[in-house]
Amino acid sequence: MVQLRLPKNSRVTEGQTYKAEGATRVRSFRIYRWSPDDDQNPRIDTYEVDLDKCGPMVLDALIKIKNEIDQTLTFRRSCREGICGSCAMNIDGKNTLACTHGIAECEGKDVQINPLPHMPVVKDLVPDLTNFYAQHAYVQPWLKTTTPEPEKEWKQSHEQREKLDGLYECILCACCSTSCPSYWWNDDKYLGPAALLQSYRWLADSRDEAKDERLDDLEDPFKLYRCHTIMNCAKACPKGLNPAKAIAEIKGLIVERDS
Ligand code: SF4
Ligand code: SF4
Ligand code: FES
Repeated sequence: MVQLRLPKNSRVTEGQTYKAEGATRVRSFRIYRWSPDDDQNPRIDTYEVDLDKCGPMVLDALIKIKNEIDQTLTFRRSCREGICGSCAMNIDGKNTLACTHGIAECEGKDVQINPLPHMPVVKDLVPDLTNFYAQHAYVQPWLKTTTPEPEKEWKQSHEQREKLDGLYECILCACCSTSCPSYWWNDDKYLGPAALLQSYRWLADSRDEAKDERLDDLEDPFKLYRCHTIMNCAKACPKGLNPAKAIAEIKGLIVERDS
């Protein structure tokens, strides 16, 4: 069951149903709605969509609903091809990208769509990612060196470059962090799988010269060590990455350094 951080004193109510009159191939989308602009409780609205007039992905259905049925429905999206990470949401209980998740893949009778779990909600399907981005900034995700800049480029061997595979592909969608129980309960102190995978991306980079400083910044009881290897993060990642493995690698680097 998806864990939502509801506005104070509120419970989710049943909202409106929008019928697809005259359609023969219909799928219902049950979507979480909440606006800070009125005093209403969150609600679930149901939208029937004519699949014969809709693209194959869940994002296609959301765009069709917004364009043709209810312009007040609010969600983020940009690239429509799994690159920008902005359409991350919880679909049928699983964090994923709406643009790469096929409607045909949704197994239940109705498609249930909620914002990413356990994040404050800005409106409808839009989570507030302020803390998530601050945690990304905390790991200083850029090349840090003291060596004078080379005239042309920082070189790497093929083997050194290969160490970044499985790390550089992260699109910062937040599907992993918002599926991690440790992050749910300690998101103010635990950096979470996404920020830690990003941290390891720079720790693993042969060109970076700030390894010690980066490890110092992570070595406290919460920032790194709240990961209990529950592995929800790896299951949730729509890019097939494994943040839990990256976290284990960081722990290994700290042990190696301190022994
Ligand atoms: S492995 Fe660690 S980061 Fe991943 S879900 Fe579990 S506790 Fe969270
Ligand atoms: S590791 Fe995967 S799930 Fe986590 S932010 Fe990056 S792309 Fe998204
Ligand atoms: S719209 Fe960019 S990842 Fe889905």
